[in-house]
Amino acid sequence: MEHELQRLTTEARDTLATLQDIDQLEEFRIRYLGRKGHFSTIMRKLGTVSQDDRPRLGQLANSVKAEIETLFKERQEILLQDRKTTQKETTEDLTLPGRKPALGRLHPVTQIMNEVCGVFEKMGFSVAEGPDVETDHYNFEALNIPAHHPARDMHDTFYISDSLLLRTHTSPMQARIMENREPPLRVIAPGKVYRCDSDITHTPMFHQVEGFLVDKQVSFADLKGVLTVFTQKMFGEDLALRFRPSFFPFTEPSAEVDIACVICKGQGCRVCKRTGWLEILGCGMIDPEVFKMVGYDPEVYSGFAFGLGIERIAMLKYGIDDIRLYYENDLRFLSQF
Ligand code: PHE
Repeated sequence: MEHELQRLTTEARDTLATLQDIDQLEEFRIRYLGRKGHFSTIMRKLGTVSQDDRPRLGQLANSVKAEIETLFKERQEILLQDRKTTQKETTEDLTLPGRKPALGRLHPVTQIMNEVCGVFEKMGFSVAEGPDVETDHYNFEALNIPAHHPARDMHDTFYISDSLLLRTHTSPMQARIMENREPPLRVIAPGKVYRCDSDITHTPMFHQVEGFLVDKQVSFADLKGVLTVFTQKMFGEDLALRFRPSFFPFTEPSAEVDIACVICKGQGCRVCKRTGWLEILGCGMIDPEVFKMVGYDPEVYSGFAFGLGIERIAMLKYGIDDIRLYYENDLRFLSQF
């Protein structure tokens, strides 16, 4: 019995030292110190030992039990203390304000695109979209630009095969839509276009919005009216603009529209190359040849078309002199808009 008491004491002492948390401690308490635990079992056995040994063994049993109880309390103290400090370390300060999630926003080009389309939609134009991968037919032939026409040189085309290419402008949408619908038509076609060109005012991909209107008795005055309203809505009411004669194979007569330089207000500066004017779009009366190819009678119908570059307008509006900034994905730049 004495032996058993000693063994039990050593075992309990060693076990106690290895306990890591309050749950393990509770298990220990039940196993050793509980009513059905090892020490109680031994105490009960005291009744069976001889009269002579009983007082000594009783005392011994009481003292080792007391010792284990003290060690148990000490261990309990340590573990409770540990729990408090680890809780303190991992617990967040609930009074700290939370971290705000970084909000995304629309790309400046998308913003201007939406603004431009919005202005034309209010004038009754509907929106249509077409493919970026276009056929030679729609990109050139249907727009009165046959093979070997010198105008093809201006386009710096990315060819995919002899008859497939990345569209160099949104004008193919004129032919695509007129083929399938009858006048009167008022349509804008926004989208990406591609040209093999790259410097501070050109990127290989950029955005255009094509617009056209076909009806009976449409005149150049209508074209001027619509584009004047558009530029005023985009750049302000008192902005000067001019229609400068130009050439496109699919419009006749053709013009380019310049606005008074937004940087120097027409005085002449580096951005407008001292002219005081900035070109923002190409336009003209739709060529009778284009009407014939889509099956419209040019004696009955007339119409105008225009094509404007979105990055160009965004650069002028925000005073940015390098177009490539739009596509470098630098958030310090993009988050300003
Ligand atoms: N497609 C021409 C370009 O990309 C612009 C344009 C469109 C000109 C419609 C006239 C009419 O340069």
